[in-house]
Amino acid sequence: MTGSRIYLADNLDVLRALPAASVDLVYIDPPFNTGKVQQRTQLKTVRSADGDRTGFQGQRYRSLVVGTKRFSDVFDDYLAFLEPRLTEAHRVLAPRGSLYFHVDYREVHYCKVLLDGIFGRDCFLNEIIWAYDYGGRPKDRWPAKHDNILFYVKDPSNYVFNVDEIERIPYMAPGLVGPEKAARGKLPTDTWWHTIVPTNGAEKTGYPTQKPLGILRRIVQASSCPGDVVLDFFAGSGTTGVAALELGRRFILVDHNPEALAVMARRFAGVEGIEWIGYDPTPHQAVERQRAWCSVPSD
Ligand SMILES: C[S@@+](CC[C@H](N)C(=O)[O-])C[C@H]1O[C@@H](n2cnc3c(N)ncnc32)[C@H](O)[C@@H]1O
Repeated sequence: MTGSRIYLADNLDVLRALPAASVDLVYIDPPFNTGKVQQRTQLKTVRSADGDRTGFQGQRYRSLVVGTKRFSDVFDDYLAFLEPRLTEAHRVLAPRGSLYFHVDYREVHYCKVLLDGIFGRDCFLNEIIWAYDYGGRPKDRWPAKHDNILFYVKDPSNYVFNVDEIERIPYMAPGLVGPEKAARGKLPTDTWWHTIVPTNGAEKTGYPTQKPLGILRRIVQASSCPGDVVLDFFAGSGTTGVAALELGRRFILVDHNPEALAVMARRFAGVEGIEWIGYDPTPHQAVERQRAWCSVPSD
């Protein structure tokens, strides 16, 4: 779909240049202020007689580092960093538009107060809990296994919410509701059980903190219409753009990290009609085309 744009830039500069009321849906997943550099190293295993791992049928394997992607997640004053960006996000939202703000338990309470100040308390509709079950379990507290997504609308008396478009989910006890209801499934609530991006599935791009497409699809489906403009100005691997594209929406993605742009270049390889601003995706897309060509099975 034409009319989509991807920027390599500081998001504040891009936001300031966007016209008021020009965006129908904003989803953002800013760095969570974890105080660390977010880093993901991709490994591949190769057969090697002197390898350090033993695999199927006693074969020896060695791990090779394919690449490392990282971005900084350390802010002296997180809320001062967010405030001008959220103020701009509110300005660029269309009158019936929505904002979804994805964060975690460390910052959510401060961000809620900040967003209430910008949007107004009555514009806050939900705190969505995305619950997953993956990774280590510390023994000194309850293991934290959820993220928080704050959902705001510009005008609580008139906003897009396509309840009939939302993919329904199975009942936990279908036997209790009768066959017709069980076949239809039920509407999700504000608590979403969803796996993280599978560590070795096709969806995985290797970008740290990549969010699952299933979460973004649900948001885009519910809070925008075909042809609308969806904005993600902390785009990372571009998950929001992929969901928008699948559902026939236009998108604007912004990230200041060239590694994020390289991942998006590969993810959107072959998609016509995207304008790239401040970045040339073609070298990465050429590699992607070659890879696709090399992986054509021969008989
Ligand atoms: C948590 S990641 C987003 C991950 C994304 N939701 C995905 O599914 O891949 C946050 C991103 O914000 C970007 N970022 C941080 N500060 C930025 C800024 N001032 N302007 C543009 N991008 C920024 C980082 O480079 C990082 O890619």
